[in-house]
Amino acid sequence: MAISVHQHWSSRFAFLFAAVGSAVGLGNIWRFPYIVGENGGSAFVLVYIGFVILIGWPVLVAEFTIGRRGQMSPVKSVEVVAVESGSSRHWKWVGAWGAFAGGLGLLSFYSMIAGWVLAYIIKAAAGTFAGFDSTASADLLDRHYANTPMMVFWHLVFIAITIVIVGRGVQAGLEKAVTFLMPLLLIILVSLVGYSATTSGFGQAIDFLFTPDFSRITPAVMLTALGQAFFSLGLTVGTMIAYGAYLSKDTNIVKSAGIVAASDTAIAVISGLAIFPLVYTYQLEPGEGPGLIFTTLTVAFGQMPGGAIFGTLFFLMLAVAAITSSISLLEPAVSYFEERQGIGRWTAALIAGAAAFGVGLLSVFSFNEWSDILPLALFGITEVGGQPANFYVVLNFFVSNIVMPFGGLALAVFTGWFASRKLLREELGLPDAFLFKLLYGLLKFVCPLALLIVIIAGLI
Ligand code: PHE
Repeated sequence: MAISVHQHWSSRFAFLFAAVGSAVGLGNIWRFPYIVGENGGSAFVLVYIGFVILIGWPVLVAEFTIGRRGQMSPVKSVEVVAVESGSSRHWKWVGAWGAFAGGLGLLSFYSMIAGWVLAYIIKAAAGTFAGFDSTASADLLDRHYANTPMMVFWHLVFIAITIVIVGRGVQAGLEKAVTFLMPLLLIILVSLVGYSATTSGFGQAIDFLFTPDFSRITPAVMLTALGQAFFSLGLTVGTMIAYGAYLSKDTNIVKSAGIVAASDTAIAVISGLAIFPLVYTYQLEPGEGPGLIFTTLTVAFGQMPGGAIFGTLFFLMLAVAAITSSISLLEPAVSYFEERQGIGRWTAALIAGAAAFGVGLLSVFSFNEWSDILPLALFGITEVGGQPANFYVVLNFFVSNIVMPFGGLALAVFTGWFASRKLLREELGLPDAFLFKLLYGLLKFVCPLALLIVIIAGLI
């Protein structure tokens, strides 16, 4: 077995919190509600949950297993498992491609959105939202979009925080921060649901979220649900392989993956419950896109008693949730660079972070200077998912509807067909034969088939 050069989690809890911290982020609180809004509500939520159980959970188990077996960066770990299984070492490209797409593509716009959150902490603390109605909140967001230097500044601040934490290493500070702050985020979210439940739009929101209208489900919507499941669980971009590599042998992977998937899904649904009642109460538009939580919640904070404090805390926690995810997006590339002679952790974090910052500028400009530039217009593509296909919209779609589904397919095929069954069984250490057969069967047959169908149908 490979000898690890990397630091390990200090305890099983630290690992769980880090993995949940990686999964829970903007994907749950910012992205999930607006994607649900754009895709018609409850039927989407059901399809989403189905994908989490049938595909997300097994792929998460596969990633942890590959990581723990390999004990190296995602690229190397996939290679180790491939070679030990007698398969081609070129499978490492699956790990490399994921780490590249996540660390560069996804992180680049993730950081921009997290930058909005940082900016909103200040606005909330300053009492900016007091007395807000839907026009005022939409107006504030528009002004934020139009302020290019501000957008660049907060994007830079967020990337810098990410670089510093990753540069310091796995255990220093981060584990403790996550352990304390994640439960706090949950408490604030639940209190927000409590507030939303008193608003007049609550009934409509419950209908929207829980009365399925299957006529809204098209193949493209299915693909979006799948991409959202991968995005939210933090899969296919090397993160969970990297985190698995820092895992001790006595941790139960199947159970941990279950806990991560369940918490992640619960927090997404709770966010929906907090946000949609406000959408209906204040006559906002559920399908308005990435600005959704910024326009809805600011109205709520502006109306409720103590809204300034509540709002400040909320955006602060959301920033923390985003940071515990962004560090996990940078980690795969950094651990890979680290393994190569001569590149230290700090240098690696700086190079990878700077690259993500640079690419992220293109997303920032998509909201202002370059909002009219449609990079795929040459190929006749001017709209993606109903939005003008500027750089940000294209990248966001490309990462979650193409890179992630294909990455998940490659991982499932690798684990199900090219990794040794004996090795997997041994690494998982599952005494329960049924559970192993179930997971293996899902990875070998159900995931590849379902992924192929959803990807092909969704793209044509
Ligand atoms: N899961 C994170 C979120 O929901 C984003 C993420 C994606 C993190 C991929 C790591 C890997 O915000």
